[in-house]
Order: sequence, then structure tokens, then C-alpha cells
Amino acid sequence: MTASVRIDPAIVEVALGARSYHIAIGRGLLASLGARIAALRPGARTFIVTDENVARHLLAGTEAALAQAGVTTSHVIVPAGETSKSYGVFEQVCEAIIASRVERGDLVVALGGGVIGDLAGFAAAVARRGLDYVQVPTTLLAQVDSSVGGKTAINSAHGKNLIGAFHQPILVLADTAVLDALPKREFRAGYAELAKYGLLGDAAFFSWLEANWREIFAGGNSSGSFAREHAIAVSCRAKAAIVARDERETGERALLNLGHTFGHALEAACGFSDRLLHGEAVAAGMALAFAFSARQGLLPAAEADRAISHLAQVGLPTGIKDISGPLPTVDQLMELIAQDKKVKRGMLTLILVRGIGSAFIKSGVDQNEVRAFLSEKLAER
Ligand SMILES: NC(=O)c1ccc[n+]([C@@H]2O[C@H](COP(=O)([O-])OP(=O)(O)OC[C@H]3O[C@@H](n4cnc5c(N)ncnc54)[C@H](O)[C@@H]3O)[C@@H](O)[C@H]2O)c1
Ligand SMILES: [Zn+2]
Repeated sequence: MTASVRIDPAIVEVALGARSYHIAIGRGLLASLGARIAALRPGARTFIVTDENVARHLLAGTEAALAQAGVTTSHVIVPAGETSKSYGVFEQVCEAIIASRVERGDLVVALGGGVIGDLAGFAAAVARRGLDYVQVPTTLLAQVDSSVGGKTAINSAHGKNLIGAFHQPILVLADTAVLDALPKREFRAGYAELAKYGLLGDAAFFSWLEANWREIFAGGNSSGSFAREHAIAVSCRAKAAIVARDERETGERALLNLGHTFGHALEAACGFSDRLLHGEAVAAGMALAFAFSARQGLLPAAEADRAISHLAQVGLPTGIKDISGPLPTVDQLMELIAQDKKVKRGMLTLILVRGIGSAFIKSGVDQNEVRAFLSEKLAER
């Protein structure tokens, strides 16, 4: 394992005063987890929360990395998938943390994708009135998005992520090699969130993605390109900067929701199932946000097409037409959008774009215009 350790991981700082932390990004970094934890928190015990898929691939290696540095550890393994962000599994994780005798000053380690990060992070926020935790994101989505920024949550019967807390990790360790084991479809879904940073605020990064996406997917850095590591670092830096300015989403952080209003409605319409993964829904949602913005005259149609074409090129859905199976009516879709976003007197707030790399928060969008737009898109299927 040591042979594959990158000596110079990319380090991104999340600047939040006393709660600042580092995101370390590099191929083979998992082997250094124990040493990093021992340096940050000498003598701390750890408790790993992971899911059954991740455990199969990575639990033994993670435990070995901790043991090597003399860090004591125990673990709980929960079922894989979104259904683990439930009260039942949350209770099981909290009880396991307490039973493991992890105490104040010790650490919870979230080893997995966004589901585990959200679940373990929330458990850490409340177990023993708050424990520190480390994020070891193992999906591309988690490495570029969910592990950074401190939002943690489980789901309510009323909707996703409605029970949670802001709780920042003390370290994020993103080992890009673990993504080699990720199913291609999951990797691609994570790529949507990565492309989001280019589309919302960094046109040069988007151009770079157009030229380099294949290398990001291939991952191997035998060519010495480190395209995957670079793309993840740029994404984390973008998110970290926004989070540092607006930790609790009172303003600018909402830009990170580009594609998410349409996306969440489509995700809900598909029952949050394997029919449409979160990142796939976000890709379709971003394509709709670009198309809608072009229709509002905010940017040239050709520029919207360029954004949409790239998402299509990597194999992501770019609209309602790409979603197979039954979908609700336009009224039901509007209902789902209204649930996701507060509608005030028939007006919606959406993240729209004035170009690639220029997203902005637009309030006062007429619901009827959105309805007419979605009606057309539904009719195209
Ligand atoms: N907190 C935030 O800011 C934030 C942001 C975006 C998304 N999220 C949340 O993230 C969740 C989605 O995260 P996700 O897409 O990572 O899903 P996930 O955690 O369910 O992981 C996807 C699948 O990949 C498997 N897997 C994970 N790592 C693997 C690896 N290295 N090799 C092989 N298989 C692996 C998992 O077991 C799972 O089956 C959603 O619940 C969403 O709400 C949170
Ligand atoms: Zn998302």
C-alpha cells in the first residue's frame, strides 16, 4: 500500500475560525489516516461508521491504517443506501457509539459516501452532546460535496434531510484511489456535482473539464496528470470558499443548489430510488436551469447548449426526456417544487445563470412560467 501513497497530497483549507479544518486529497491517502489522526488528536480513540459495501472494500485497510499509528478503533456497519438515513439506523449508530465508550475528545470516523457522512456526522453532533468527527468520503459525490461544509442530516417522513445539524468535521481525507471501486454510474453521478462548480462559478474550470473529463474518470495517474485529484481539489476549494463566507446558508451558499430545485422534484418523482441517483437528478436539473435561463433571455441559447452537451457527453441525463418510466403530471411536479422551495404568492426563488460560471439567486420567478416550461419538457418525452 505504501508504494501508492502520494507524498504531496493537495490540501484545501476550510477557513472557519476556531473550527477550521483541512481537506487532504490524494491517491493512497487512506494509509495515512492513523498518523493524521494521531497528530491532530494524540491518544484519541476512534469509532468508524460505515456501510456494508464500503466495509467490504475498505474497512480492513482503514483499521490497519489506524492500528499502525496506535489508534484504538471499533466500528458499526449499516445497510448501504439512502434508507439508512432513518431514525431507526440513526438510533442504532448513536447507541453503538455510546456502547463503544468513545467519549468527549475521541473521534467518530465517517467512512463512506454521502449517506454515511450525513448519518455519522449527525450522530457525532448529538451523541454525548457532541463528538468531533473525521470524514473519509469514498464516493466522488462525497469527496467533492457532502463531506465538506458541515451539513449533516437524516430524512423525515416529510422529506429529505429535514432532521439534522450543522457540525463541521475536524479533518476530511479524500483518497482518490478508493473511487476505482465505485460503480461507474455512481462515479458519473458524482461528476455532476463536480461539473456544478464550473457551471455555477468558474468558467475556466468548466473548459478544463470539457478537455480533461476522460482522465478524471480513468483516474490512474501513471501519466502523472493527477486530473482527478486536481478536479476534486478545485471543487473542494470552491465549496470551502462559499462555506467560509456563508456557513449557515443565509445567502450565497444557496448557489450550491444549482440544479437542485428541478433535481429534487425529479428525484422525489422517482421515489428517491435507483431509477434516478441524486447526481443524475442534479445533472438533469442543471440542464433544465440552463434551458430555463436561456428561455428567460438571461444567456444565449448556444451557451446553454454547451453546458448541456458536456453533461450529455459524459453520459448524464440532461432533462426530463432522459428519465425512463412513469413521471407525474406537471401539477404534481410543481407541487414537489413548492415543497422543496418556499413559494411566496406564486413566486419562486431559483438558482439561474447568466452564463457558464455565472449563477445567481433569482427570486420572484413566476410559477406559471416554470409550469409552462416543464409542461413543454414533459411533452417532449
Ligand atoms: N451534507 C451535504 O452537504 C450533502 C451534499 C450532497 C449530498 N448529500 C447526501 O449524500 C447522499 C448521497 O451520497 P452518495 O451518492 O455518496 O451515496 P451513498 O453514500 O449511498 O453511496 C453510493 C453507493 O456507493 C457505495 N460505495 C461508497 N463508496 C464506495 C466505494 N469506494 N467503492 C464501492 N462502492 C462504494 C455505497 O455503499 C452506496 O451503495 C444523499 O443522502 C444526499 O442527501 C449531502
Ligand atoms: Zn447535490
